[in-house]
Amino acid sequence: MLTFTKDFTLQEPIPDEGIELALGVLKTGRLHRYNTMKGERGYAADLEAAFAEYMGSRYCLACASCGSALYIALKSLGVKAGDTVLCNAYTLAPVPGAIDNAGANIELVEITDDYTIDLDDLDAKATRTGARFFLLSHMRGHMANMDKVMEVVRKHNLILLEDCAHTMGGSWDGKKSGTFGHAACFSTQTYKHMNSGEGGLLITNDPDVMARAIIYSGSYMLYSAHGARPDLDAFEHVKKITPNFSSRMDNLRAALLLPQLKNLDNQCRRWNDLYHHMQDRLLKIPGVTCPSRDPREYYVGSSIQWNLPKAGYEQIEAFIARCDERGVQVKWFGNREPAGFTSAYDSWQYFPGLATLDLPKTKKVLATMCDMRLPLTFSKEDCDIIADIIEDVIRELRLD
Ligand SMILES: Cc1ncc(COP(=O)(O)O)c(C=O)c1O
Repeated sequence: MLTFTKDFTLQEPIPDEGIELALGVLKTGRLHRYNTMKGERGYAADLEAAFAEYMGSRYCLACASCGSALYIALKSLGVKAGDTVLCNAYTLAPVPGAIDNAGANIELVEITDDYTIDLDDLDAKATRTGARFFLLSHMRGHMANMDKVMEVVRKHNLILLEDCAHTMGGSWDGKKSGTFGHAACFSTQTYKHMNSGEGGLLITNDPDVMARAIIYSGSYMLYSAHGARPDLDAFEHVKKITPNFSSRMDNLRAALLLPQLKNLDNQCRRWNDLYHHMQDRLLKIPGVTCPSRDPREYYVGSSIQWNLPKAGYEQIEAFIARCDERGVQVKWFGNREPAGFTSAYDSWQYFPGLATLDLPKTKKVLATMCDMRLPLTFSKEDCDIIADIIEDVIRELRLD
């Protein structure tokens, strides 16, 4: 019986240049971002400058993770305890976690069959709640029609924070994902488009928001050492009223990331090459559906999702188990129990009401949605083997 033996969590090695830079940091012992010699700029500051330039944004802050960057961004944008934050219901646990961390309430918004936010529901819930804040998670790299998103944002005067953990390198109609909102956060955690183990990047064009974010991140009043910061007077009125939440990136991680940033666009192209091959194969399997994507969406296919619309709960369970036995790791957001990086909104029960919240559209989509990583260590031949196994299992379980 055909089995797949490669590991779905295996990333490519850190580029030699990154290893060299990191070794240099290790040899000096100057890992902390503010541990620099007089006149020297550390790699964390270099990375901020380079990422801001890549994104075409004025400011950038390097953080310990995307989750902490999201929390800091929410606070810096003005979210106060008890405020309501609108958020799409299909996202990963650190996103509601950041909202909870900011002391806010969450108002979850439905998704459509193409996995993106339901704009009618967003409009209705913005009206009903009067919420000022909107955290849009471009989950698994699926971008909604950003022109229409921005219409709703403008209509309700929402403050938009983009979660770009899965869209680093992506764009909508030529405009980079992360440049639509008031601020955006990116992840450099191992499974993302640049890998430093853990790490987050926060961008904004707003000097006041960035000044607060830098102080929140734990600048120990050394904010002048930042690589893409506002003028020093922006810090004057916030520095004594903004707590230190200690969420800095260190020079070691930044050293790993600097060379990766130079190669990011190329990596995105490689991912998409793999993704398109995998998607073409999946779409030929009876019983499999993948939503079509708008030609204006330039996504980064570092993972792939599809639906098995004919399958019931037990059948999907059996499908995942059979694929797993044959070496194909598929995740399932319709699972009643949160497992391995995957949880559905009704398991975020620290928010009152989510356990019983009924979002029928989202539930229907997630019930039969399968989700799979596509690491760059895979080849097209690997994708063929994976597709053959998926097809076999679908036939065996009569899901076609
Ligand atoms: C959609 C999404 N947003 C945010 C995050 C948070 O990223 P980090 O792990 O860097 O905190 C993740 C992490 O996987 C994610 O998948």
